[in-house]
Amino acid sequence: TTDITELLLSRIRDVADYPEPGVMFKDITPLLADPEAFAVLTDALAEAARATGATKVVGLEARGFILGAPVALRAGLGFIPVRKAGKLPGATLSQAYDLEYGSAEIEVHAEDLTAGDRVLVVDDVLATGGTAEASLELIRRAGAEVAGLAVLMELGFLGGRARLEPALAGAPLKALLTV
Ligand code: PRP
Ligand code: MG
Repeated sequence: TTDITELLLSRIRDVADYPEPGVMFKDITPLLADPEAFAVLTDALAEAARATGATKVVGLEARGFILGAPVALRAGLGFIPVRKAGKLPGATLSQAYDLEYGSAEIEVHAEDLTAGDRVLVVDDVLATGGTAEASLELIRRAGAEVAGLAVLMELGFLGGRARLEPALAGAPLKALLTV
């Protein structure tokens, strides 16, 4: 492992049995509170954005906003929020997706993504891949191209990477850490 990997890992706190028994929650708030680690993280994800030739950065509410906005700024790209349903005032595209119990819906302003855009999705964690998959659907339905998906952390044992293969259609999935 590199110095960057070690630094990032050292700033992520494992919280046992949160939000429910048997789950090990990955808490990134110590990383966000450390300006050196936050800068290293932002630079690494911004480099991923450059490597994919992205023209826009999409962040996934809520934790994807915290990482996606500085990445967009650093990479010199516009930031587009994908929000949980009911929060955006303009004309939206919506995408429903399944959760372990029940379902959820995310939305984007339809005018924010158009043909010719190459979009990098940024989020903190890739778990089952349901959230990311729905965002990739939204991007395609808006007529834009998927440049890739970049996350701080991939929970490898949940199989999100395999699930996302069809939706990514050859676009890269960059995870700075795999746990
Ligand atoms: C978490 C995390 C990812 C998503 C990963 O978000 O921030 O966005 O779950 O899970 P998945 O790969 O199984 O879809 P969550 O919806 O819990 O809330 P938040 O970002 O608003 O805190
Ligand atoms: Mg999230």
